[in-house]
This record gives sequence, structure tokens and C-alpha cells, in this order.
Amino acid sequence: MAIKDNRERYGLVSRTLHWGMALLILWQFLSAGAHYFLEDTAIEAFFWPSHKPLGVLLLLLMVLRLLWALFNAKRRPPSINLAAKLGHAILYLLVIAVPTIALIRQYGSGRAFEPFGIPLFAGFEGDKIDWMLKLGGDWHGELGWVLLVLLLGHVAMALKHRKSQAEVFKRMGG
Ligand code: HEM
Ligand code: HEM
Repeated sequence: MAIKDNRERYGLVSRTLHWGMALLILWQFLSAGAHYFLEDTAIEAFFWPSHKPLGVLLLLLMVLRLLWALFNAKRRPPSINLAAKLGHAILYLLVIAVPTIALIRQYGSGRAFEPFGIPLFAGFEGDKIDWMLKLGGDWHGELGWVLLVLLLGHVAMALKHRKSQAEVFKRMGG
């Protein structure tokens, strides 16, 4: 299979990013769901510790994916319609915005942050930064749930096309 995309199919890099991130995002929503619905249970204790580091990894992968998409823009399979094009753009935007907002809140808390043991913020003494905490408190979880709803719509449309327009599904799967 070609590494780069072409007009008929996505290439190896786009597919690996798409399906690898699909699995990681599934795990990310299992941890968010466990935190929201199953607080103080063994299930939350199992999933929740991975939420912050995995969220940072997803942000990194999404930035790489955006760069790869721009690099391949002229040769990718064309979107089937404007709704698909807009929908995919909003998915990109949210997978970047949701963890970025969380990272801003994390910084504003003044606490040290070391995802996967890699020191990202050293933390600071003194007052927390209120607007950063508020931005995260108001938007991180909310936009996260919006992303989940859009993803469910995306999967539903993909499965619909698998029946009606099989070639669209084959561009990313198959
Ligand atoms: C089981 C889950 C999923 C299925 C069945 C699925 C299916 C597909 C299919 C068939 C395409 C090709 C559409 C086309 O060429 O017009 C596609 C593209 C795309 N999918 Fe998914 N998808 C899934 C999960 C996800 C997730 C979790 C994301 C989150 C970011 C995502 C984001 C995208 C984007 C942005 C595109 C456009 C191509 C690109 O820029 O990579 N998908 N998906
Ligand atoms: C793509 C990445 C991410 C997604 C999809 C995501 C999604 C979510 C969702 C849906 C919730 C709501 C759960 C609830 O209402 O209790 C949540 C909560 C939370 N997330 Fe994330 N998250 C991501 C990345 C991150 C990152 C990078 C951090 C930290 C650096 C983080 C920290 C938190 C915290 C502390 C909460 C609990 C407080 C709150 O509800 O805002 N998340 N996340």
C-alpha cells in the first residue's frame, strides 16, 4: 500500500493515524465516562489515571495528522459533499481544542504536570490563574461530549455509506 494518499484511497500513514487514533479516542471516552458516571469505583480507578497523558498524546497525534493532511491535501480522495468536508474539519478542530483547553487549565492550577513522566509544566507558587481554571471548567468537558456526539454521527454515516456507497468506506478501510 502507498505511504502517501492518492485520489482513490488514503495511504498507509493516514490510515494508521485514523484507526490508531480511533482506538485511543475510544479509550479516552471510557476514562471520561468512568470519571463522570462511576466516580469512586474500581472502574474509574482503572481508567481515569490514563486520561491526562493519553489526552496529551492525542493532541500531539492530531497536530501531526493535520500537518500530514495539509501535505496530502492535493492528492487525497475528494470529500463526497460539503457536509462531510465540514464535519471532518470540525473533528480536527475539536480534537485539538478539547485537550488544549485542558492543558491551559492544568497550567493555571499551578501544579506540576508530567505526562508519561515527561516534565511539561514545573508548577508555580502563589495564586492559581482564575481565567485558565474557568476556561477549562466551562468548556473542556462540554466540548468533549460534543466531540463524542459528532463522532457517533461520523461512525453512523460511515456505516451508512458502507452499504450505499461502498467505495467511500474502502478509501479508509478495506
Ligand atoms: C469506528 C470508528 C470509525 C469509522 C467506522 C470511521 C470511518 C471513516 C471513513 C470510512 C472515512 C473515509 C471518509 C471519506 O473518505 O469521505 C473516515 C474519514 C475520516 N475520519 Fe473516521 N471513522 C471512525 C472513527 C474516527 C474517529 C475516532 C475520528 C476522530 C478524529 C475520525 C475522523 C475522521 C476524519 C477527520 C476523516 C477524514 C480523513 C482524515 O482527515 O483523516 N474517524 N472515517
Ligand atoms: C482528546 C482529548 C480529550 C478528550 C476527548 C477529553 C474528554 C473529556 C470529557 C468528555 C470529560 C468530561 C467528564 C466529566 O464531565 O466529568 C473530561 C473531563 C476531564 N478531563 Fe479530559 N479529555 C481530553 C484530554 C484531556 C487532557 C489533555 C487533560 C489534562 C491535561 C484532561 C483533563 C480532564 C479533567 C481534569 C477532567 C475532569 C474535570 C472536567 O470535567 O473538566 N483531559 N475530559
